[in-house]
Amino acid sequence: MNLLKVSDLEVSHGPLQALWGVDLAIATGEKVGLLGANGAGKSTTLGAIIGHYPAKAGRIELDGSDASTLDVSQRVMRGLALVPEGRRLFVEMSVRENLEMGAYLAAPRKKLSRSLDRVFDLFPILKEKQRQPAGTLSGGQQQMVAIGRALMSCPRLLLLDEPFIGVAPLIIKDVMNVLTQIAAEGITIVLVEQNIHRALEFVDRAYVIENGRTVLDGTRDQLLNDKSFGSKLLGLD
Ligand SMILES: Nc1ncnc2c1ncn2[C@@H]1O[C@H](COP(=O)(O)OP(=O)(O)O)[C@@H](O)[C@H]1O
Ligand SMILES: [Mg+2]
Repeated sequence: MNLLKVSDLEVSHGPLQALWGVDLAIATGEKVGLLGANGAGKSTTLGAIIGHYPAKAGRIELDGSDASTLDVSQRVMRGLALVPEGRRLFVEMSVRENLEMGAYLAAPRKKLSRSLDRVFDLFPILKEKQRQPAGTLSGGQQQMVAIGRALMSCPRLLLLDEPFIGVAPLIIKDVMNVLTQIAAEGITIVLVEQNIHRALEFVDRAYVIENGRTVLDGTRDQLLNDKSFGSKLLGLD
């Protein structure tokens, strides 16, 4: 059974329809990429999965049952967490307070100190800087806080929206290593990433979204050998 299944998903932002038919099927333990041009609908897809945007048509299933009508907290309780585009930290609050925000629901709150230790193990620099306002950290460290905050809700499926924007190249490698580690611990990962080669290095397979539709999917080799891959990525098809 799929952990997450998205079928024929359509989403509108006001009068503008952004998604016209997105299909994804993600099994537990997979690392899956979501690729596509700017404006293709990747962030809207992740936002609809976590519950920020209602589905206008189609279905979102978690563990085989319909999740389309659940609110964000209910989806988090079912194991979803989003690391949003642009991090969205509370910059005047401390690193630790930002992390604690991720454990706001009852069940994760009970495990708060254990989860905090785990995040500090993964990102030791955050332990050092836990009392500092999040806004004083570097871009890469802020991204670590955003990932850490998502981990504080003890997710089974982590949705990451372009986590390497504004992160120094040397730090990208560190963050990638942490993502590899948490994936090895069994957390399923969906990664939206602009850098195709970086994405394909990390994921097991990927979907290409073009103009609000899933148009291609496959493993790294399948995608790289598909003649339409480049034009679909650029939205030129
Ligand atoms: N909050 C919003 N309000 C209005 N239009 C939006 C909003 N978010 C995204 N869009 C539009 O929806 C389409 C898909 O955007 P998005 O999902 O952000 O694409 P991507 O993440 O692939 O760059 C684009 O045309 C974008 O302008
Ligand atoms: Mg986006």
